[in-house]
Amino acid sequence: MSDTARETVTITDNRTGKSVEVPIKDGGVDAKEWGKLMPGVWFLDPGFSVTASTESTITDLDGLNGILRYRGYPIEQLAESSTFLEVCYLLLNGELPNQKQSDDWVHDVTYHTFIHENMRKRFMEGFHHDAHPMGMLVSAIAALSTFYPEAKDIDDPDNRYKQINRLISKTPTLAAMAYRSSIGMPFVYPDNELSYSENFLSMMWKVAEPTYEPDPVLSKALDVLLILHADHEQNCSTTTMRVVGSSHADPYSSAAAATAALYGPRHGGANEQVIHMLRDIGSYDNIPAFIDSVKAGEGRLMGFGHRVYKAYDPRARIVKGHADKVFEVTGKNPLLDIALKLEEIALEDEYFKSRNLYPNVDFYTGLIYQAMEFPMNMFTVLFSIGRMPGWLSHWQEALEQGSRISRPRQVYTGEGARDYVPMSER
Ligand code: CMC
Repeated sequence: MSDTARETVTITDNRTGKSVEVPIKDGGVDAKEWGKLMPGVWFLDPGFSVTASTESTITDLDGLNGILRYRGYPIEQLAESSTFLEVCYLLLNGELPNQKQSDDWVHDVTYHTFIHENMRKRFMEGFHHDAHPMGMLVSAIAALSTFYPEAKDIDDPDNRYKQINRLISKTPTLAAMAYRSSIGMPFVYPDNELSYSENFLSMMWKVAEPTYEPDPVLSKALDVLLILHADHEQNCSTTTMRVVGSSHADPYSSAAAATAALYGPRHGGANEQVIHMLRDIGSYDNIPAFIDSVKAGEGRLMGFGHRVYKAYDPRARIVKGHADKVFEVTGKNPLLDIALKLEEIALEDEYFKSRNLYPNVDFYTGLIYQAMEFPMNMFTVLFSIGRMPGWLSHWQEALEQGSRISRPRQVYTGEGARDYVPMSER
């Protein structure tokens, strides 16, 4: 084999002339070898553009070709044929469940949806009446750790399972509770006769009817949206989960931190921002001026662009496909036409083309959520429910890998050593 064909990279420190040849394995090189050759010289990579923080077997994302697979299964097949709870099992365990495993898992999730009454009466009711449900959710997930102090025992796999189960079961309950309390409506208790997505819709919308009967098209659409959000490898919130988990914090505290990371408009908060943007644009006629303002750097086209995808986000394609089915039931979202036109113009525009900016998952989800009558401040909450199994799978994987505490280096560019100056001399 010629030198050029070797799957290695050679690093030479020109100060000393020393070299090290490092194998390229699974598309990565082991940074330890760099460290051995040049201790004290750090890779400067703000935002982790070229840094792989871990090996992982959970989600395979090929951003150049627009491919997303959970444990090897294409997202398109899972969205078409699976359910959210089955996908949770797959992400957490690596394999699709057989019938018995599926029955046990669904039973365990269904029977752990209730929340301690103190959470509702004393905790949730303490928020200001117009509190954002994401702020409430972040706090409520963190507060769960105080109800389950045994969660600290992260080394015991059975105990881990119990906490994972609780977090997946209870997040929709907390989410619906946050919404109901924000509009002054009484809390709706979980209904064990309903599926995961149906139960969430029931807790959101039930009024006085004995049993809430969700429209099957809408509960299926919600289930698909949850599947599409279930994992996305080392994104900002999942990285947060792994980083906080690496200090061996309990899973509720780690998941609360991940939820907080998701809240931001550059991440899970983008779906809410897309609707604000479409409303501000208001009509077809205003689209060219809006595009010009984005190109002039006056704002971003929300729901476009992605750190990893340099092609059409496969999730956005699936969401777009489901939008029509939802709109048949709910009536068309009037903002859809503006979104479609915006996409059409942006995809033809050199600014967006040259930067590989395509619609991401958030571009169309907000339109569906809005048509389903979710208020805008619940959009990111829905994302959190979907992403919970992804966060937990990564948390568990990191523990099983025996990962070290996350502690990056920095390149210090501040002042050199100097003497303290007394106040009177400043
Ligand atoms: N509109 C206009 N220009 C953009 C956009 C956008 N949405 N996104 C990136 N760019 C430009 C950016 O100005 C830069 O141009 P230049 O090279 O001339 O300075 C170039 O594209 C590269 O952008 P970047 O900020 O270096 O890219 P990034 O990988 O750091 O950021 C992103 C990724 C998702 C934060 C960004 O694309 C963005 O802010 N998008 C809008 C918010 C959004 O939709 N977020 C949801 C992401 S998908 C759901 C999720 O995973 O949370």
